[in-house]
Amino acid sequence: MTVSIDAARLPLDALADTPPWWRQATVYQIYPRSFADADGDGLGDIRGILSRADYLAELGIDAVWLSPFYPSELADGGYDVADYRDVDPRLGTLADVDDMLAALHARGLKVVIDIVPNHTSDQHAWFREALAAGRGSAARERYIFREGSGPDGAEPPTDWTAAFGGSAWVRVADGQWYLHSFAIEQPDLNWAHPEVRADFVRTLRFWSDRGVDGFRIDVAHMLTKDLSEPLPSAAELAAIPVDGNHPLLDRDDVHEVYAQWREVFDSYDPPRTAVAEAWVASDRVPKYASPESLGQSFNFDLLVADFDAGQFRAIVTHNIDLAARSGSSSTWVLSNHDVFRHATRYGLRDLPAVDEDGAVPRRHGAGWLESGADQARLDRVGGERRARAATLFLLGLPGSAYLYQGEELGLHEVAEIPGDQRQDPTYFRTHQEQYGRDGCRVPLPWTTEGPSFGFGDGGAHLPQPAWFAGHSVAAEEADPDSTLSMYRRALALRHDLQTAEELVWIDTDRADVLHFARPNGWQVVTNFGTEPYPLPEGAGAVLLTSAPVDADAAASTGVVAAEQTVWLAPA
Ligand code: GLC
Repeated sequence: MTVSIDAARLPLDALADTPPWWRQATVYQIYPRSFADADGDGLGDIRGILSRADYLAELGIDAVWLSPFYPSELADGGYDVADYRDVDPRLGTLADVDDMLAALHARGLKVVIDIVPNHTSDQHAWFREALAAGRGSAARERYIFREGSGPDGAEPPTDWTAAFGGSAWVRVADGQWYLHSFAIEQPDLNWAHPEVRADFVRTLRFWSDRGVDGFRIDVAHMLTKDLSEPLPSAAELAAIPVDGNHPLLDRDDVHEVYAQWREVFDSYDPPRTAVAEAWVASDRVPKYASPESLGQSFNFDLLVADFDAGQFRAIVTHNIDLAARSGSSSTWVLSNHDVFRHATRYGLRDLPAVDEDGAVPRRHGAGWLESGADQARLDRVGGERRARAATLFLLGLPGSAYLYQGEELGLHEVAEIPGDQRQDPTYFRTHQEQYGRDGCRVPLPWTTEGPSFGFGDGGAHLPQPAWFAGHSVAAEEADPDSTLSMYRRALALRHDLQTAEELVWIDTDRADVLHFARPNGWQVVTNFGTEPYPLPEGAGAVLLTSAPVDADAAASTGVVAAEQTVWLAPA
């Protein structure tokens, strides 16, 4: 067996004696409105998170990341923030957040919160002031107001479209238009304005002073813009390379903002951390991940990949190299609150390229489970099996792992949400053509029965399907073969892997099998194929398999079964 080292290695001297906590952390994303509901109003809340602090600690994670819990009209699931330094009264109070921080810190867990700097809610005091103050006012300068085009300015300034569909401009009562890259209730801020910059520094300090350990930066690549006239058309925009000087995306000057934030982060002990949500070309990622900027950046490559050995290996090698270039560690993600859950992605993999009626099934897009036919064709068991194998592969990698609430239960996307109960702006802005992201945001099932499967004493703000019972925490805790049990075992073992950030690929004689070793001697073998693969000769004991069978059974069969991952101890 040949051992080849083709993954870039981080120089060991880049790591201090005690590497910063985030470098190889497992971070569990909580979508607060759907995690646990302490007051029974159907909406998850901060005291709900507090009540599940033991669950989080027992899971074996290192940190939680909370999606926004700020006051919001929920035009975009809380990413429309009306006040960055307060808590949505439906979710609790600042005192509740303090209690939650204390409870999680007492259990050794770090807390990362979401900062949404590209836009505010249209309910934010600044935007209300801007509307009231009228055209030409100083208050409008904090946003991006322009005169319209065409006779009487009745047409939008440009033909740009918003991320959730429709025009990116909305006309206000006095005839001016404002830019919104996302929902119409999310006016874009003007990051050339010193007050905007100063206010976010204040917000970062506000939460850092309260003890928050780090920040996830929403659409970190979109803040700064060059809106000098004449504004380009959508077609012209699309033709401009995104190389640091694009008018709207991934501009080099956004790092001036983050350099200022870095001073804030580093003024705390320990320094506060940040991770960028930056959907940028991979060679641009190191800018966000550098220690002068945000320090870490999400790598979404696995999240959009198929369950495929070739894709996984190329992605891992490339991203370890990218992380080394910035001095950061890599991040691995299979699911989050914006995409279809990975069990479902992998359960729809065998859809034909073209449907019987000629339609092309959309596997990665938002409209994925739009027809009853797609649901009937969902391979639930296979999807969960592949999801477990992919997760165990991911948890063996160097770098940090970001998990999304409910994936530890093997949850599938919920497709059965009636139109009148949907919430995602995508659904409305595309005239019900695309479902959007509600299906991965359905409140978690904690118990096998009850009005909202233990989410709270009341209902759930998005309807839970009957099959949630079997995927509830209570059901899975009682089952040693469950996905939850696998996550717990893996996360407990993973602490032994959080040492040197290295990986060595070991050649296999099959294109559909990946095999790597970590510096502590552990080996990870993932069989993406359908034929069993013999356990490597000379490897140590089976520590864990992704199969719903115990390790002894896997060891006794001597193979890595189809679509499974095995962790092996040193020989
Ligand atoms: C990010 C968030 C997403 C939100 C968008 C606008 O992509 O993850 O949920 O809709 O930004 O804030």
